[in-house]
Amino acid sequence: MQVLPTATELRAALAGQTGTALVATMGNLHAGHVSLVELAKQHGQPVVASIFVNPLQFGAGEDFERYPRTLEADCEKLAAAGCAFVFAPDVAEMYPVPQTFTVQPPEALANDLCGAFRPGHFSGVATVVLKLFNLVQPRVAVFGSKDFQQLFVIRELVRQFNLPIEILASDTLREADGLAMSSRNAYLGASERIQATALQHELAAIAAAVQAGERDFAALTATAARRLKMAGWRVDYVALRDAATLQAPSADSARLVVLAAAWLGKTRLIDNIEMALG
Ligand code: PAJ
Repeated sequence: MQVLPTATELRAALAGQTGTALVATMGNLHAGHVSLVELAKQHGQPVVASIFVNPLQFGAGEDFERYPRTLEADCEKLAAAGCAFVFAPDVAEMYPVPQTFTVQPPEALANDLCGAFRPGHFSGVATVVLKLFNLVQPRVAVFGSKDFQQLFVIRELVRQFNLPIEILASDTLREADGLAMSSRNAYLGASERIQATALQHELAAIAAAVQAGERDFAALTATAARRLKMAGWRVDYVALRDAATLQAPSADSARLVVLAAAWLGKTRLIDNIEMALG
């Protein structure tokens, strides 16, 4: 496996490759990231992973500085998973001049759900992902359903800019107790780590109620938010949406997704569960 710190080296290494699969990450890799590499391998060769903590998608006061950076351990995991190339630029390599051209996702999407609490976040994500797509020129790119709204933004980016890239979604990998794997789980203290499973439990309870026929979506999400608050969480949102449009459910909705973002102490966790409407 080759680790490439510059765009020039990346382009040289990938010259002539037409079936590349990209897995974009911010590093501090866990089994969830590795599962994206496994899926990528089935759909394209060579597999290129990128590791870049993208300052553009962090707001003022967010965790850009303290985001865990573990390049050596990450590369060991990627090599073991069968990744051929790792693009690991620093900020000056990725942004040699101030990034004054940016991608602005449609406002209704950029300011919804996580975007309502993280202004500019999805513009930062879309901008860096477009740059990564241009640098790597992959045939396929794999993203996790864990970041459901991000996946939606990237699919829309590809569609509206006619990018010749197939986007594949990968299922959320969870710890044994159900907590969605996340690099940010490392911030949790021991008692927070035990409490953290409540987020997934509330979402699973909503999904079960919907599948059992409950249709008062506002009551379901309000109850979950209240229960989380009582358990000591600061809740950004709990929302039920149409999984295909990310809009409020309609009579035509075939699949729903329940999404939540909430804080335990200084750690912001997100999760979601998709469900078919029977
Ligand atoms: P990061 O949080 O490192 O996640 C990289 C990829 O791994 C994303 O597609 C994410 O959805 C996926 N992922 C995270 N946790 C997962 C889990 N438990 N199971 C399966 N997949 C999981 O998302 C980003 O980085 C950045 O925003 C990025 C797209 C790289 C742009 O900077």
